[in-house]
Amino acid sequence: MRTAIIRALGLLAAIGVSGHAVVETPTPRRTGSVQRERCGSAFTAQLEKDTASPIEDAMKKADENYNCNAYLCRGYQLEDNLDSVQAVKAGDVIDFHIDLIAGHHPGYANVSVVDLSTNQVIGEPLRYWADWPDSTSGPPRNDIDFNITIPETLSSACDVAGKCAIQWYWWASKNKQTYESCVDFYLE
Ligand SMILES: *[C@@H]1O[C@H](CO)[C@@H](O)[C@H](O)[C@H]1NC(C)=O
Ligand SMILES: *[C@@H]1O[C@H](CO)[C@@H](O)[C@H](O)[C@H]1NC(C)=O
Repeated sequence: MRTAIIRALGLLAAIGVSGHAVVETPTPRRTGSVQRERCGSAFTAQLEKDTASPIEDAMKKADENYNCNAYLCRGYQLEDNLDSVQAVKAGDVIDFHIDLIAGHHPGYANVSVVDLSTNQVIGEPLRYWADWPDSTSGPPRNDIDFNITIPETLSSACDVAGKCAIQWYWWASKNKQTYESCVDFYLE
């Protein structure tokens, strides 16, 4: 019992310096061989080690083979994720669940539709939390369990897989760490 507590404290100390969170539902973009090619294997290995880790941790490993943009979907590539692209209609409501592993470092979060060719947000944020994580809401907690509605205004901007993603974004302001997850979609 005592050993278990000491172990648990050790684990907390180890993860204490950073937050940790990632979208669990819907299936977000993940790593794969195309990412390894474009972002380099050192960077990609660091991401694979902990899929909920801040992007900044992986950036420390970026070497001369890093030729992607980590701050767009963690550098995850569409080609590695063709099986999880969602076909949606304007007005569809999509449930999200965030796996919040460690949230000691508050900041803000948002969910937006992102134009993947320009890395620009399209329209207004679908959700925005000035303080995230916000453990005082709920249950159910609306910071980790929430839904978004596909806007009516996207039309041809998002009519093909690879043009747009729904991006969840958390900026842990105190320790300056970025967390992102992307869900690929197209309007059918
Ligand atoms: C979400 O936050 C990021 C980082 O500050 C910002 O670049 C982006 O524009 C925000 N998205 C929206 C829709 O406000
Ligand atoms: C979406 O979430 C809101 C709460 O933010 C809830 O009232 C609503 O019923 C949900 N919609 C669906 C379709 O689940």
